[in-house]
Amino acid sequence: MLVHAIPTNVSYEFAAEVRDGLTRAEQKELPSKYLYDDVGSALFEVISHLPEYGLTRADERLLRRHASEIVDRVQGPVAVAELGSGSGRKTRWLLEAFCRKQRTSYYPVEISHSALVMCERALSDIDSISIVGFEREYLDGLLEVAAYRTPGQHLCVLFLGSTIGNFDRAAGVNFLSRVRCVLQPGDSLLLGTDLEKSHSQLIRAYDDELGVTAAFNLNLLARINRELGADFNLAEFEHLARINEVERSVEMHLFSKRRQVVSVPAAEVVVEFREGETIWTESSHKYSMDEIFETARKAGFRCEVQWVDEEWPFAENLLVAE
Ligand code: TRP
Repeated sequence: MLVHAIPTNVSYEFAAEVRDGLTRAEQKELPSKYLYDDVGSALFEVISHLPEYGLTRADERLLRRHASEIVDRVQGPVAVAELGSGSGRKTRWLLEAFCRKQRTSYYPVEISHSALVMCERALSDIDSISIVGFEREYLDGLLEVAAYRTPGQHLCVLFLGSTIGNFDRAAGVNFLSRVRCVLQPGDSLLLGTDLEKSHSQLIRAYDDELGVTAAFNLNLLARINRELGADFNLAEFEHLARINEVERSVEMHLFSKRRQVVSVPAAEVVVEFREGETIWTESSHKYSMDEIFETARKAGFRCEVQWVDEEWPFAENLLVAE
């Protein structure tokens, strides 16, 4: 009999969600937030430099080019909260522009500890900035930030890099509505959205030649092995990116190359895979410029300005809470 050592310090929530996702009768799934452990965050950082994945660079170009214009639209003392700050590299331009005008508080909210540390390190040299990071899920972190705000302070929430695309459209509106509930009228939300593009360009972006995205996706199984004592054989799974034309999204899956049985001791589950069965790990929905207005309106915002990148179809949208 195989005995798996159950590592100590197991996150019970992780175990519970893995168990729940892998025992689904129809489509097995794993929550994409678990892609971002230290290894996953480092791999995503590499993805953002790949020629095929223009998204992060488009985001960064827009923020650099339009930083003062964006900042000029936000009046008075400001607290900036960023949902999913990553390494913080692209936020520098905006924060520098804010801090040229006044002292600015920056609150990165991020579930990856290492990303948060990197972010604080990367940005703390900016003059007139104070940084307090929250190792939290987005809405929990945002609620804490809101509790810190001083009277008359404007709250500017950054939700960049097209993370909104990782929700389906209805859940995206729902998430933005919940953000809106934490804000006051006149507060702003800078929202990054990846725009629709050709299928071949999308597949290349999510299944790159070097295999970094494949490693990023497969790392989720490696993480379950490391943290939950599972015995996934990574060589028997394959990264798969496919277009969902109805949802206008790219779906990421882990494809089982053969029939196999995997045990996840810390989640107290043994999982059977059919040959060709997949685990769905993430979807990335692509937006049209027009629908962003409607999405904003449904969530209680007004879309004031949109800036679009010329090289990679991507938009930065400034939403104001109504
Ligand atoms: N959420 C990002 C996106 O939709 C991250 C990402 C890039 C990603 N490539 C991936 C997530 C592959 C899962 C698998 O663009």
